[in-house]
Amino acid sequence: MTDASTQQTFMLPDHNLGLDLMRATEAAALAASYWIGRGNKNAGDGGAVDAMRSVLNAIRMDGTVIIGEGEKDEAPMLHNGEKVGAGSGPAIDIAVDPIDGTRLMAEGMRNSIAVIAASPAGTMFTNTECFYMNKLATGPEAADALDIEAPIADILAKIAKAKGKAIGDVTVALLNRDRHKPLMAEIRAAGARTRLYTDGDVAASVAAADDLNDVDLLAGIGGSPEGVITACAMHAMGGRIVAKLAPTSDEERQKTIASGIDPDQVLDTYDLVGSKDTLFVATGITDGDMCHGVHFSARGASTQSIVMRSSSGTVRFVDALHNLTKVHDYAERHGSGPELGEF
Ligand code: FBP
Repeated sequence: MTDASTQQTFMLPDHNLGLDLMRATEAAALAASYWIGRGNKNAGDGGAVDAMRSVLNAIRMDGTVIIGEGEKDEAPMLHNGEKVGAGSGPAIDIAVDPIDGTRLMAEGMRNSIAVIAASPAGTMFTNTECFYMNKLATGPEAADALDIEAPIADILAKIAKAKGKAIGDVTVALLNRDRHKPLMAEIRAAGARTRLYTDGDVAASVAAADDLNDVDLLAGIGGSPEGVITACAMHAMGGRIVAKLAPTSDEERQKTIASGIDPDQVLDTYDLVGSKDTLFVATGITDGDMCHGVHFSARGASTQSIVMRSSSGTVRFVDALHNLTKVHDYAERHGSGPELGEF
């Protein structure tokens, strides 16, 4: 039996905030696109931050930036604790990375994205003292195989079994860093393959969780902020991330303890984001595994975005064509931020 109110609820779809947030990642990607391949990380990042922030502030939500540009980038805006949104609307935690892969963008390399993740207020893990996190991330099929404290060979064997493939066909994504050389050697000794990413472990984690490519696992040490963003994506994809903070010095370790966080705690997806109700939104800046980057033609500037909403399980790919004159005007006025509705 349905009464009038349940019928109305059924018939009227609820609002998908992810589609609003997508305009903010589109704006960041368009602003950053002017700087692709021009060798200037900071200018591109500044443009993306301005653009993302001004669109975020037009969205009907009561948002708090929990994961912001942070200390590593010494950014003045979209910092941790900043309130964003038009004030009314749902109270949410927001994680932003206006450019994940600033170097990739500056050098014109693949896999640079603008990304925002969101969850209900009070559900995102915050940590200001420890920049790095050791992570494992994968999709639903092999989620049970993850154990941040187990030898990588054991995890690879479990992943191969869960996915019904030979260990020689398992591919692990890692950031190409010297610190990962022992891990790379262990992975190869176990018979698996590696796929090395210059930067951008959010895109690499999503690649490990989707079935659009042959990456099976993200492993290794990357940014803690990116770990929380990844957790929002894993909730939406039915995947899993397990992690542990990775202090780079005893001083950082002690500061982490003093801030009330146990650096030895194993952080599972729910510890990083304590709600299944998450949004993950990204727009490609340069072409990548997840989506196309910004392309320019006589018709306009095209973007491709991905919008994931865990409550409905929806994953949308959204192609958009933007007015070229406005995109160029914005680039020239860089610093003032796009006007409302400009992108
Ligand atoms: P930025 O775009 O902020 O430079 O981050 C890129 C990135 O590769 C992240 O995806 C990753 O988590 C982190 O840097 C790794 O840090 P590091 O480059 O110090 O190894």
